[in-house]
Amino acid sequence: MCGILAYSGKKSIKKILLSGLEKLSYRGYDSAGIGVLTQEKTIKIYKYAGHVQNLTKNLEKITIESPVGIGHTRWATHGEANDINAHPHLSHSGHLAIAHNGIVENYNTLKKKLISKGYTFQSNTDTEVLINLIDYIQNYQQCALKEALRFALKHVVGAYALVLLDKNNPHQLIATKKGSPLVIGIQGKEYFIASDVTPIIAHTNEVIFLKDDEIAYINHGKLQITNAKAVEKTPFIEKLDIHLEAIDKGHFPHFMLKEIFEQPQSLQNCILGRLNMLQKKLTLGGIQDHLPSLKEANRIIIIACGTSYYAGLVGAYFLEDICRIPVVVEYASEFRYRNPIIKSNDVILAISQSGETADTLAAIQLAKKHHAIILGICNVVGSSLARTTHAGIFTHAGPEIGVASTKAFTAQLMSLAMLALKLAHEKKTIAENVFQHYLLELYKIPTKIDLLLQNISPAIQLLAQKFKNSRHFIYLGRGYHFPIAMEGALKLKEIAYIHAEGYPAAEMKHGPIALIDQDMPVVCIATKDHCYDKIVANIEEIKARKGQIIAIVTEKDTHITSLTKDIISVPDTPAALMPMITIVPLQLLAYYTAIARNCNVDQPRNLAKSVTVE
Ligand code: AGP
Ligand code: GLU
Repeated sequence: MCGILAYSGKKSIKKILLSGLEKLSYRGYDSAGIGVLTQEKTIKIYKYAGHVQNLTKNLEKITIESPVGIGHTRWATHGEANDINAHPHLSHSGHLAIAHNGIVENYNTLKKKLISKGYTFQSNTDTEVLINLIDYIQNYQQCALKEALRFALKHVVGAYALVLLDKNNPHQLIATKKGSPLVIGIQGKEYFIASDVTPIIAHTNEVIFLKDDEIAYINHGKLQITNAKAVEKTPFIEKLDIHLEAIDKGHFPHFMLKEIFEQPQSLQNCILGRLNMLQKKLTLGGIQDHLPSLKEANRIIIIACGTSYYAGLVGAYFLEDICRIPVVVEYASEFRYRNPIIKSNDVILAISQSGETADTLAAIQLAKKHHAIILGICNVVGSSLARTTHAGIFTHAGPEIGVASTKAFTAQLMSLAMLALKLAHEKKTIAENVFQHYLLELYKIPTKIDLLLQNISPAIQLLAQKFKNSRHFIYLGRGYHFPIAMEGALKLKEIAYIHAEGYPAAEMKHGPIALIDQDMPVVCIATKDHCYDKIVANIEEIKARKGQIIAIVTEKDTHITSLTKDIISVPDTPAALMPMITIVPLQLLAYYTAIARNCNVDQPRNLAKSVTVE
């Protein structure tokens, strides 16, 4: 599920693989390794549990000269994170090596068969089963490795991206994918194969996004791509428009902080070319052709996971409110397995930062079978989601490296708000003056967040110090802020490892209030909207039980200020757009609490940036 990097070319293989693996490390991993060829025509593997730095240190005094090499950062699924289970894995014969992302679901059955054929295994991984299966088929059929791979994959159930080394063909790399991403960078006769473009863009911006079941075959500086039936395909080379600075921390200590502070700019980019304040127009080019069917939609079904799911919940409130179309929001992982009712005039809206989340992609496939229109909201151009949906909106937040999603989330909220407004305008379910008012308010959001970011950090750092040893947190919100309560809690869990629950404030009485005492911090999102009095009443209830209230309020609020000292004020904005603003202090609260607890913010334990397996 994590990172693959392979290189074929004349540059220093060690440098390219190690610096590239370092770049991939944001995806989350627990061990790292490389496989290269030696002068003696053997495959040499170096792999260690822990950070890429560990691998780099172990290779310090080792000279490597190899025309090709493969590298991997592992996010363990089968077998604990140790040196032996780290990738690459050698085949039983030692002829082949593999770096693999994903899961071989039927590895156990395959393993038993291979054991009966005399194969032995060093690791507990499913990956070692895969490389031995390829090895076995190649021996049995006496065929080329490319063919053996193709045959072997017919027996494999699961998702994968993989790259192979062959000691008998020292100028060859073979790669393929299904369900997990793989991209090939081209620089003359040099090739880079990676899970995403981050280790590639330092070298080239010409890339090919490999499609499921395609096999890339690189030999002596030539690339050939074939499909699952071994038919040669003309590669579609794309030019990337990503700059190196976008994947650099700049002067920030962590990617997450950089990305939080980038939000004024990323939101600006999201509305650029769409919101035209001179002409008072909103254009969503990506979905323009589908507006007629969207207008007639019987229902919108939003599918997503994690943070993107919470964005979907906020979007659903606004879509229903102003477009008067029923909207349901579902976890993609539940949707795909529960035989949902999907009609042909339902519109599916899939939301994903990465565009590679396995459950979201599988849910899309399911909806496609029912002939629904599939739209996407996605941050990564060229991702699987972008290619598989009928149309959509790119969030244009720029590469998001921090595992905890921040700027992608606010850009998703912005895209959803634009979608709701566009649709309501087309359907004439909102008055022109209301529409115009919203456009102006959308336009002001980046500046408001900019001003907020300039002022709030010191206060939030103090809060983080005060509450860093709390073992639990509750986050409460109503209406548009119920999903924000859940997203704020998720951020704290992910990077500060503090148990936190996001709850609709009114539901507190139905159970969680039992948890409130003087040791329980309760974050209340209590900005001025039609539920304000209600949430003030909830705050009173918490105060009566001595809970420690941290309140996010609209500037100039005097009432809540009299109930608690721990207050963060945010600029006023219409309720439907307020989540883009209120989430910012919650992102910072999670960040500074994690720092105060010495947590690794950009690579939180057990998490991966793109969840490309179930
Ligand atoms: C966000 O902080 C999380 N790391 C995670 O919940 C994420 O939002 C989820 O895995 C979905 O990812 P996607 O948006 O790339 O599909
Ligand atoms: N399933 C493989 C393993 O556990 C690959 C994990 C990954 O994608 O990093 O080793």
